[in-house]
Amino acid sequence: MLRVKGLSKTYSKGDIEISALRDITFGVDEGEFISIVGRSGSGKSTLLNLIGGLDTPSCGQILFRETDLAAMKRAELAGHRRRSVGMLFQSFNLIPHRTALENVILALTFGRLPRGKRKQRAAALLENVGLADRMNHKPAELSGGEAQRVAIARALANEPDLLLLDEPTGNLDSGTADEIMGIICGLNRKRGLTVLLVTHEEDVARTVSDSMIRLLDGRIVERSGGGASQ
Ligand SMILES: Nc1ncnc2c1ncn2[C@@H]1O[C@H](COP(=O)(O)OP(=O)(O)O)[C@@H](O)[C@H]1O
Ligand SMILES: [Mg+2]
Repeated sequence: MLRVKGLSKTYSKGDIEISALRDITFGVDEGEFISIVGRSGSGKSTLLNLIGGLDTPSCGQILFRETDLAAMKRAELAGHRRRSVGMLFQSFNLIPHRTALENVILALTFGRLPRGKRKQRAAALLENVGLADRMNHKPAELSGGEAQRVAIARALANEPDLLLLDEPTGNLDSGTADEIMGIICGLNRKRGLTVLLVTHEEDVARTVSDSMIRLLDGRIVERSGGGASQ
């Protein structure tokens, strides 16, 4: 599904250049669950953002079903993000003055569903993550676990094939974190969604994923488990 080849990302700050990623190469099979681990600053978020089309690489290729994201223009990348990718972040990134339902409806406005059907679909997405009775709450009126469930409903709104998760349980207590990981594992096993999970909890990574990539100073220093695309 995804082949990353010779990917590098350099940030410039004044005279200083920071190599966030250096010559990253790996592949992801359809339906695979991969964890990306490594200490803070090792390039995990940068890698996820490039695959999600939130940023563009300095060099290299990101072939998503044979199309190179590195060669796409900004508008094309936005299309890739809306059609194919669902993202979750540690901080949920919900719109604070909108209700749970409105947050999910907003994501649907970028999809193909006609306007008249969006509210019903958003409600169904929220019901699926157990939030039928929280739809009209704003993010500040939700617990962390509930807010992340809204973010899951939003991420699934346009039926993505690839889920990109950047420390999705980093702000949650361990019981709630287990619930959220349970939902994510279900999406991978039952619906066949391909998952890239950034986490610093290696025991979680080993338990839930098919294989693991370790980054250090922007390079892959270990790839364990997994199948054909290594
Ligand atoms: N927008 C940016 N501008 C400059 N440097 C950045 C930017 N984003 C990340 N970096 C730097 O790139 C490196 C990798 O960052 P990041 O991908 O966020 O690591 P991680 O998610 O593993 O903690 C770090 O040294 C970080 O300071
Ligand atoms: Mg990060």
